[in-house]
Amino acid sequence: MTVAIYPGSFDPVTNGHLDVVLRASDIFEKVIVGVMVNPKKNYLFSLEERKNLIIDSLTSEQRQKIEVVSFEGLLVDYMKNNGIKAIIKGLRTEMDYQYEFQMALLNRRLHTPAETIFLPTSEQYSLVSSSMVKELFGFNGDITDFVPPPVYQALHKKRDSL
Ligand code: PNS
Repeated sequence: MTVAIYPGSFDPVTNGHLDVVLRASDIFEKVIVGVMVNPKKNYLFSLEERKNLIIDSLTSEQRQKIEVVSFEGLLVDYMKNNGIKAIIKGLRTEMDYQYEFQMALLNRRLHTPAETIFLPTSEQYSLVSSSMVKELFGFNGDITDFVPPPVYQALHKKRDSL
């Protein structure tokens, strides 16, 4: 079976992420969304919350081909342990590319069969990022076009509990 992993922070998942994972699931027989820890980031949602928000944003049919897992540690260790060779990354901008190109080389250096496949974001999502969504939400901006309903609800709940 051709399996790919789509790793990221997903704090929270956006419609841009979902677009990438759904397109990847048309190419691969199975896509594993790996909810992970980026040591450079402080998170609004816990690892478990980030994972559950993705699961809740997928239909049961989509979940047949898309599995969501969360773990800490190196991406390549998870790939080695689970026999995965392909990494999916979405690209929005040239800045994304510069960072992701380095990560792709590093991951292949750490685990030789690891190949990164870049999917350009769909045009309507090129400006959408988790940090933009959080900032916009913080200023009471309208985020409905950018996130799936479970994330919209979770952000409101988080704000109400503060
Ligand atoms: O959505 P993000 O924050 O850009 O995702 C980055 C992420 C989580 C994919 C990256 O930080 C990562 O792979 N973290 C796990 C640790 C790891 O394998 N780092 C690469 C070698 S140092």
